[in-house]
Amino acid sequence: MDFINCYEDVGRATAYATLEFANTYYLAFRDLPAILAEHVTGPRALDFGCGTGRSTRFLRKLGFQVIGVDIAEDMLRIARTTDPGGDYRLVPGDNLKELAAGSFDLVLSAFTFDNIPGTIKVRIFRDLGRLLAPHGVIISIVSSPEIYTHEWASFTTKDFPENASARSGDVVRIIVTDHQDRRPVEDIVCSDEAYREVYRQAGLEAVEMLKPLAKGDEPYPWASETRMAPWAIYVLKRTR
Ligand SMILES: C[S@@+](CC[C@H](N)C(=O)[O-])C[C@H]1O[C@@H](n2cnc3c(N)ncnc32)[C@H](O)[C@@H]1O
Repeated sequence: MDFINCYEDVGRATAYATLEFANTYYLAFRDLPAILAEHVTGPRALDFGCGTGRSTRFLRKLGFQVIGVDIAEDMLRIARTTDPGGDYRLVPGDNLKELAAGSFDLVLSAFTFDNIPGTIKVRIFRDLGRLLAPHGVIISIVSSPEIYTHEWASFTTKDFPENASARSGDVVRIIVTDHQDRRPVEDIVCSDEAYREVYRQAGLEAVEMLKPLAKGDEPYPWASETRMAPWAIYVLKRTR
């Protein structure tokens, strides 16, 4: 597939590094501490697709010992500068072999699979599953298909009406309005059904799936967030 990871770009990395936990992103992270407390039994964590380290730092503040991995050196460089005490590693070609099988209580992927073509999702989820300790879980936060066809506090998609006819596996476009880089991001849309099929083929099952909605009393300029969920959060366990 002719698809480029748009995060391998200095300008994009610099803009992305300014994002924290406000606006639509607030809903991706709001419920995570409670989800982690319910499902995760140890401190060893892998942040798969750590980017500039926002999600890694989030886990570290909660007390996890985290290795952050990414394929984009421009993103990792900023992660290391922002958090010199963190462990941030390049994983070229999705080669997770340097990480020991069975050694993580938690694998978090926050928005990473939005940028991974369907054909390799299964292989990567299978590899991540192998990294889990016997009681380990994968928590995968992904964009819901609705994010690409509505307006949001952190995103606009109104310039891309063609997103409405996209099917699972197709490239869609979205602009992040929370930072200065207004170039569209290219993602791969993926339905709940398609994700569940990926999990099944990868030897995983979703033991919980959450679609966080805004309550309306938060200090953010909600657009669609009180009516529909921008994110889907899957809690995954190995089936074999
Ligand atoms: C939208 S960013 C999210 C960064 C971070 N998790 C956060 O919450 O801010 C997605 C990241 O996933 C990385 N990524 C995409 N495909 C990857 C792959 N196959 N292996 C590792 N990282 C990948 C991108 O380079 C990018 O840094």
